Amino acid sequence: MTATLIFLLLFLLGLFLALRPLLGPKEPFPEPPRREELLEELEVLKREVEALEGEEKKLALARMVELERALEGYRPPEPRPFNPLPVALVLGAVVLLGVGLWRYTLPRLPGETTVTARAEARELKALSDKAKKTGAVEDLLAWGRKAFELGVYEQAAEAYMEVLKKDPRNVEAVRRVGILLFLSGRPEEARLFLEIAQHAEPMAAEGWLFLGNLYFQEGRYQEAIAAWERYLEMGGEARERVQGLIAMARAQAQGGKDGKSVYQARCAACHGARGEGGVGPRLQGNPILKAKEAVREIVLQGRGTMPAVPLAPEELSALLDYLDSL
Ligand code: HEC
Repeated sequence: MTATLIFLLLFLLGLFLALRPLLGPKEPFPEPPRREELLEELEVLKREVEALEGEEKKLALARMVELERALEGYRPPEPRPFNPLPVALVLGAVVLLGVGLWRYTLPRLPGETTVTARAEARELKALSDKAKKTGAVEDLLAWGRKAFELGVYEQAAEAYMEVLKKDPRNVEAVRRVGILLFLSGRPEEARLFLEIAQHAEPMAAEGWLFLGNLYFQEGRYQEAIAAWERYLEMGGEARERVQGLIAMARAQAQGGKDGKSVYQARCAACHGARGEGGVGPRLQGNPILKAKEAVREIVLQGRGTMPAVPLAPEELSALLDYLDSL
């Protein structure tokens, strides 16, 4: 961006310098009358002065002196010498800058300014032209893949939608359309496409990645974690980032209002991971769970050696629902 601006400024400067002789400032004074006109006036005065008298004669003589002085001082304006060197230099610079602009900045892909961006743009254009000409699924896929890889998402969407028109069961196109929908902020539709794609063969790691992102956004942390774990199992490349995402989802789930997570975080240490009992009595199949009010009170007030466990109302009701399912 900055480079373009600098180029543009230099270009305008060059243009200004090249054109300056033509735009030169106007003479600050009116052009003096031409020599012939002065001579003519002088001749007329000379002829008439004899016939004049008094004040008029004085004025005419004074005017004659004035004219003669003006004629003496008169020099025809010298023509401005033409020096081709600076003009040539400036024109050369303008041409070079123009070539530079064309070579390095057009056309642009987002975030790229290099020569390779141009080469890639050309390649993408060639793929798009070919796909539009033949309309073959293979060509459309090649175009869509390149556009997706380069982050030119409108073109990727166009290509993959065309594929789906020709071959609605193309798993790659279903998945990529799902991802593109997610990226364009339409999670509902995205989930439809991604869930279909991830239950069909061939699966691809990236599908699990985006499905995980989607579930996470919807607050379905356990499902997000499961999807991301599938991503890692399939050898997805963004290992570290996804491991970080999983850790984050786990933390969210702990603090979240999901009953199972609340149990894992606040009760499992004493009552066992599945309520099978430990320090505290077995909860699985425990008839006391039918008496929700009693459980609510035990949790909030504690009982015997069990400490009170302060919980927010939503957490408590999510927890009670979860205990029912034990
Ligand atoms: C520090 C360990 C500890 C934690 C944490 C704990 N409990 Fe307990 N819980 C106990 C013990 C010990 C008892 C038995 C208390 C008694 O009857 O003296 C008990 C009793 C209970 C009972 C009554 C069981 C019965 O048969 O009478 C319920 C229900 C219960 N706990 C639910 C929970 C829930 C739900 C949580 C999580 C919010 C929880 N507890 C957290 C230790 C714990």
